[in-house]
Amino acid sequence: MKLEELLDIENKYCARNYIPANVVIGKGRGVWVWDLDGKRYLDCVSAYGAVNQGHCHPKILKSLVEQAEKLTIISRAFRSDIIGTFCRELCEVTGSRKVLLMNSGAEAVETALKAVRKWGYAARKVPKDKAEIIVCADNFHGRTIAIIGFSSVDLYRKGFGPFTGGFVTIPFGDAEALKKAITPNTVGFLLEPIQAEGGINVPPAGYLKDIRSICTEAGIALMFDEIQTGFGRTGTMLAEDLEHIKADVSIVGKSLGGGFYPISAVCSRNEVLDAIGPGEHGSTFGGNPLACAVARTSLKVIQEENMVENARKMGLVLKKEFENMKSRLIKAVRGTGLMLGLELSEESPDLCAKLIDAGLLVNKAGKGVIRVAPPLVVSEEEAGWALERFREVLCD
Ligand SMILES: Cc1ncc(COP(=O)(O)O)c(C=O)c1O
Repeated sequence: MKLEELLDIENKYCARNYIPANVVIGKGRGVWVWDLDGKRYLDCVSAYGAVNQGHCHPKILKSLVEQAEKLTIISRAFRSDIIGTFCRELCEVTGSRKVLLMNSGAEAVETALKAVRKWGYAARKVPKDKAEIIVCADNFHGRTIAIIGFSSVDLYRKGFGPFTGGFVTIPFGDAEALKKAITPNTVGFLLEPIQAEGGINVPPAGYLKDIRSICTEAGIALMFDEIQTGFGRTGTMLAEDLEHIKADVSIVGKSLGGGFYPISAVCSRNEVLDAIGPGEHGSTFGGNPLACAVARTSLKVIQEENMVENARKMGLVLKKEFENMKSRLIKAVRGTGLMLGLELSEESPDLCAKLIDAGLLVNKAGKGVIRVAPPLVVSEEEAGWALERFREVLCD
């Protein structure tokens, strides 16, 4: 089918909740993707961190196929021979006591909110229906009604009310604001340790440690949404490792499925997940054997192939090169590991299109920030290739 025909069909039959760039991708391997004419692009979006392991990783593919030939789904009314082993491995990787498996990121965030509320009513003795969870301005935690209700982005909220109550918003990166916002009804604090869609916002050094202490002192659950920062993206396995702390609840998704299959999880280090009893929460596809098999190998290859270390190393290389690029368009380089953002000094509406034309699959994270987040397997040579293309466009 011709390009124009494909665009027409998509425009006619797909709901318009996205306006994709007019590049039609048909194949992906490692950091590369190809359009229908065989033109090659280096993927700097990585499906928002869902494909940290690189496109179509052969070992994950093998696990997918092997499991698909054996058993794909069995109701959670019964047991599978893989769920327990996988949950144990996820607990080991994240340093957790228990995990609860879901499918999408937003679902896992909703699950964590439910669990922390339920836990908080008992642990904090909060009166019925009065539990409060503190969140940050400029957050992005997904698209469900409860979640968009505490978004600070008008576009995400407008026309979708009424919203769920019980959320209190404070500025991101301000530990004093957290202290002030805590009341006897507060049960948890939910945040992304580095805000992704808000524009690659890195909090001040020491912030994660400070909020850890504040939450411990107040007896409330510290909840990290690591759906995008998770599994090596920041040059550490989880972003919490950047300041050597542990959240009480870590929410993970995206790269847990290795780019092959949606799977997300709530990982708890305290009793939060014990609060949820049989029948109080669930999901038809949550924890299905196919998802577990894919996720086991997705975690395994990150560890065995030193992807965390590579993300740290290549992140430093890229950041330094961007900082030295002397482009009038780059105001600042943000981020850590391979979660980088180029803050632009001026509105440049067609810049992404120019970069795509040059062979770099990019988009914006928040307003005026170009995302640079290739798969964690990017080599020095590939990073050098990308930098050349960035230079061509940004330093003209
Ligand atoms: C930090 C964060 N949380 C939650 C989500 C929502 O995940 P999903 O799109 O899988 O529902 C995203 C998606 O971009 C995200 O970046």
